[in-house]
Amino acid sequence: MNSLTISSPAKVNLFLKVLGRRPDGYHELLTLFHRISLSDRLTLRKIKRPHFRLITNHPKLKRFRANLVYRAYQLLRQLVSWKGGVEVTLEKNIPIAAGLGGGSSNAAHFLLGMNRLFRLGLPKKTVIRIGSQIGSDAPFFLHDTNQAVGTGRGEKIKPFPSHQKLWFVLVIPSFGLSTRQVYKRLRALALTRLTRAVTITSAHSDRQRIARLVASGENDLFPASCSMRPELGRINSLFEQSGVQRRLMSGSGPTIFSIHNSKREAERTARLIRDRMHGAKMFVCHTC
Ligand code: C5P
Repeated sequence: MNSLTISSPAKVNLFLKVLGRRPDGYHELLTLFHRISLSDRLTLRKIKRPHFRLITNHPKLKRFRANLVYRAYQLLRQLVSWKGGVEVTLEKNIPIAAGLGGGSSNAAHFLLGMNRLFRLGLPKKTVIRIGSQIGSDAPFFLHDTNQAVGTGRGEKIKPFPSHQKLWFVLVIPSFGLSTRQVYKRLRALALTRLTRAVTITSAHSDRQRIARLVASGENDLFPASCSMRPELGRINSLFEQSGVQRRLMSGSGPTIFSIHNSKREAERTARLIRDRMHGAKMFVCHTC
């Protein structure tokens, strides 16, 4: 086998609770990751020279040293050796810095692909450990499940498969948001509430509790992102005016999305809001 092509899907968070701040500066989370059909494509090809080469259709990712796939390559090189190098072709469809986990998904799928293509023989546990060094969202994509509860900084994953095919309308504004900056703003907005000590118990992933949190449709980062970009409040109102009950922001934003039980309902919503979005991108997609 000389090359491998894999799909690298995005995620949305069906709720996101920030439980407190940790001594290491990260925030303790309780969230539900849900894999969606919007995806990038990664092709890994063996090359003779022991180099890393990146070909991509996204102009902002061409400086590959800042790319999470390159970070994954570096971590892998520190741990194992293999003959030759790799050329990665990344066909980007997932908007970057949008709260959809695109970069983390690319890095995670790169690791899985490298393990197969070069027969590195890395156990799942090791791959997940490398993933958690790349970013808080990466471990989710290393688990073979379409939905999972995330705790810790988001990297502790408990599979929670979804048997229902949900449909989503994603609205992605033209600006990106830095996750770090959003958390910083959250601290400025809610300092006292977030400094209390946090203990996570297994009760957090109790089925009923998860169902209640999904029904609440809350993302604790929304007020922070919205105070940085008030346009988000307008997109949220647009969904509300279209009669959408279930809507929230994904991750640290700026993607706002609605949740539907059928394709018809999702497409109807998309038609209603399409002309009023001013420069934002829109995707209709479903559970992966
Ligand atoms: O883990 P990741 O690299 O995606 O996180 C980016 C930044 O977001 C971190 O450096 C941190 O400032 C913030 N963050 C946080 N708590 C989390 C996840 C991210 O404070 N649970």
